[in-house]
Amino acid sequence: MERTLAIIKPDGVVRKLVGTVIQRLEQEGIRVAGMKMIRLTKVQAKGFYKVHQDKPFFDSVTDFMSSGPCVVMVLEGEDVIAHYRKIMGATDFKKAAEGTIRRDFATDIEKNVVHGSDSPETAAFEIGYFFSAMEVG
Ligand code: CMP
Repeated sequence: MERTLAIIKPDGVVRKLVGTVIQRLEQEGIRVAGMKMIRLTKVQAKGFYKVHQDKPFFDSVTDFMSSGPCVVMVLEGEDVIAHYRKIMGATDFKKAAEGTIRRDFATDIEKNVVHGSDSPETAAFEIGYFFSAMEVG
């Protein structure tokens, strides 16, 4: 069993896609092991996306991620990091496969509805960024 960190971003929450996203994950056999709604400050968003601090989109994406509430989740399943990334689709929704969350709902490379960890090391950092052991079951 593997774990990963998922975020339903402010655009997904505003557009009432929370239920749809969770339904797609559960239908694929993924278990939600932890979940809460949070509102990131700009500083907290910068800490979360620090690997992207030198990228041209860093200021914009951290503004966006702190613009409204997000739903953060710990997902659990076999090979869940790769499995969930397949369900999300490519970062750029124009390149995302048919039937993926981003292909179906994203409006922009930044406002792409969901986030998922990209490796076991990133998942460990990202889960620890939002969840204590007591909040994951
Ligand atoms: P995410 O998978 O959360 O990782 C970094 C985020 O930065 C990405 O999704 C997008 O929301 C945002 N972003 C904005 N522009 C780009 C870009 N050109 N390439 C990658 N990510 C971008």
